[in-house]
Amino acid sequence: MNGKVCVVTGATSGIGLEIACSLASLGARVIGVGRDGARCAQALSRIRSAGSGGECELADLSSQAEVRALAQRIAARNAPIDILINNAGLFTWRRKESVDGIEIQFAVNYLAAFLLTGLLLPHLAPGARVITVSSDSHAFGRIHWRDVGMRRWYNGLSAYAQSKLATVLFTHELARRLAAYPAGSREATIATFAADPGLVDTKFGEKETGLLIRRLWRWHARHGISAAQSAASIVFLATNPLVANEAGGYWYMDEPRSSAMRTYDERAARRLWTLSERVSGLPYLSDPSPEGHGSGRLTA
Ligand SMILES: NC(=O)c1ccc[n+]([C@@H]2O[C@H](COP(=O)([O-])OP(=O)(O)OC[C@H]3O[C@@H](n4cnc5c(N)ncnc54)[C@H](OP(=O)(O)O)[C@@H]3O)[C@@H](O)[C@H]2O)c1
Repeated sequence: MNGKVCVVTGATSGIGLEIACSLASLGARVIGVGRDGARCAQALSRIRSAGSGGECELADLSSQAEVRALAQRIAARNAPIDILINNAGLFTWRRKESVDGIEIQFAVNYLAAFLLTGLLLPHLAPGARVITVSSDSHAFGRIHWRDVGMRRWYNGLSAYAQSKLATVLFTHELARRLAAYPAGSREATIATFAADPGLVDTKFGEKETGLLIRRLWRWHARHGISAAQSAASIVFLATNPLVANEAGGYWYMDEPRSSAMRTYDERAARRLWTLSERVSGLPYLSDPSPEGHGSGRLTA
């Protein structure tokens, strides 16, 4: 991984921080992303002490303007990106909206990954890997097509499951669209994965929740693996040459797994892509399927 450029979102705590440190220790040039200046500074000192370098970019990924500014700053480095890990995520019990008026879990857990990936796509190196951190909760999710923001009826767990289902649908669709490029083109060499990190003992469920949920999460998370153990499986996915050809897969602990049946619904994946393009204002990788009118070429 010497000198390879790795972008890791949510690098200020939990699994993301461990991923960033581990990649740095392998010699990678890590660009971590965090939403809080003080936590970015702390994370940076850990990343730098694990390896020879590292940078941390400040961006609140719930804001599309901040995602765009972040992508511009990363692109301005003129260094092709080898690994992009969309890891940032949050869980909220009560419904909240982002500055763009989007339900916050959908905005951070999924849409920020869609937008950042699209903006950085032209800057990915040949053979790059895009890993989006999902969850087994995706299996309980459904996309509330008529009310994606879940304004009429809200439940934090359902909104979380919806956002994680979206990350798997996105990963499969991204793989299909990249595979439509001619063999040997840069796009056709980019591999995409959804990673299930398992149940991990982090403060994930304690940040945007009340006392009861915090206590429940603490009790639940104690049965999980450590952030370092979980990160190791995602670093394996990011670095192991043997997994390069398994594009578009869903991975759990160093192994490819089947994701829930509904994630293989190509119509739903295309519909989500169109919705995401509209909501984020970024059309990219037009639809190569017979139903779509795309030529499989980059449109942004
Ligand atoms: N823990 C589990 O059991 C588990 C299970 C399945 C999936 N996951 C997934 O794993 C990923 C990492 O979670 P974790 O357990 O490591 O939790 P975590 O320690 O809370 O890490 C989440 C990271 O995302 C960042 N983040 C949250 N909202 C953000 C925003 N608006 N803008 C930018 N960054 C933001 C957090 O920043 P701060 O440091 O500032 O909070 C933190 O760095 C998430 O996608 C989560 O859904 C976790």
